[in-house]
Amino acid sequence: MIPNSGIDLLQAKGYEVMVSPENRVLAKSELIDFLKKDQYDAVLCLLTDKIDADVLDAAGKQCKIFANYAVGFDNVDLKTAADRGVMITNTPGVLTDSVAEHAVALMLSVAHRIPESDRFTRAGKYHGWEPMLLLGHDMSHKVLGIVGLGRIGSRVAHIAAAGFGMKILYYDVKRAESFEQEFPVADNGAPQVEFRENPDMIFEQADVVSIHVPLLPTTRHMVDARKLGLMKKTAYLINTSRGPIVDEVALVEALKNGTPHGAALDVYENEPALAPGLADLENVVLTPHTASGTEETRQAMSVLAAQNIIEALEGRIPPNVVKI
Ligand code: DGY
Repeated sequence: MIPNSGIDLLQAKGYEVMVSPENRVLAKSELIDFLKKDQYDAVLCLLTDKIDADVLDAAGKQCKIFANYAVGFDNVDLKTAADRGVMITNTPGVLTDSVAEHAVALMLSVAHRIPESDRFTRAGKYHGWEPMLLLGHDMSHKVLGIVGLGRIGSRVAHIAAAGFGMKILYYDVKRAESFEQEFPVADNGAPQVEFRENPDMIFEQADVVSIHVPLLPTTRHMVDARKLGLMKKTAYLINTSRGPIVDEVALVEALKNGTPHGAALDVYENEPALAPGLADLENVVLTPHTASGTEETRQAMSVLAAQNIIEALEGRIPPNVVKI
């Protein structure tokens, strides 16, 4: 189920909308059965729907567009869709603030041990103030490493720099001088933001590493045992992008061995399953892929996905076509 705003928009334009009756992730066979039931001109799909050749076949030649209700599109076989002339769109922009806020919330949660402290308090273990109780780490003036400087990575950098005076190191395939100029330079001339041409340098130098790259063949397991081994003993890893970018088994092992110091994840390698042992660790914060899950953002994603469909069905190029 998605918020009605997009569906209302489509209906107001005169389109008939069929919604899958199941309010859960559909198995591939169920998705295929649903698509074969009728002839659809457009499909609004979720990131849990694998849009591959079989699904594109089931939708048939009449279907012009699959509008993915997500900014990520690793669930879609873009090449096969392009070969068949089917447009694929996503929902960028409208979820930048909510995912960036969530990444920052995860960073603070793990560093200040918020969920752990909550569990402790609820369990009746709080018997009075103690100077050394559940000590965390300040994030103010620490070094934040951003891996992937898209919209969300940039927004996280701005929040962390403006809110906590954090120094920002970033890695992307190319340097973004205009982004660097958005930040003040200190009186002593030290820049608040610096580019690193090799992601290894981010893992070595940052106090917190936040992952914001898309899932591609080249980024799968980008965060592996070797990279985790480069991190400082006191550092934290945050992932709000896609689970398979982190080798989750290697992360569990690394956390057990004490480096990095903690991790906060919104996405998992084999969602909804968690790697064995992950949920048993106290030094991790786990959320169920809800970084973009705010009322405002889910509504906006619904409208944007519908607008993409309307543009395609009215013969125009939708604003968010994903190019291969
Ligand atoms: C996306 O849009 O790709 C997000 O992962 C959804 O929460």
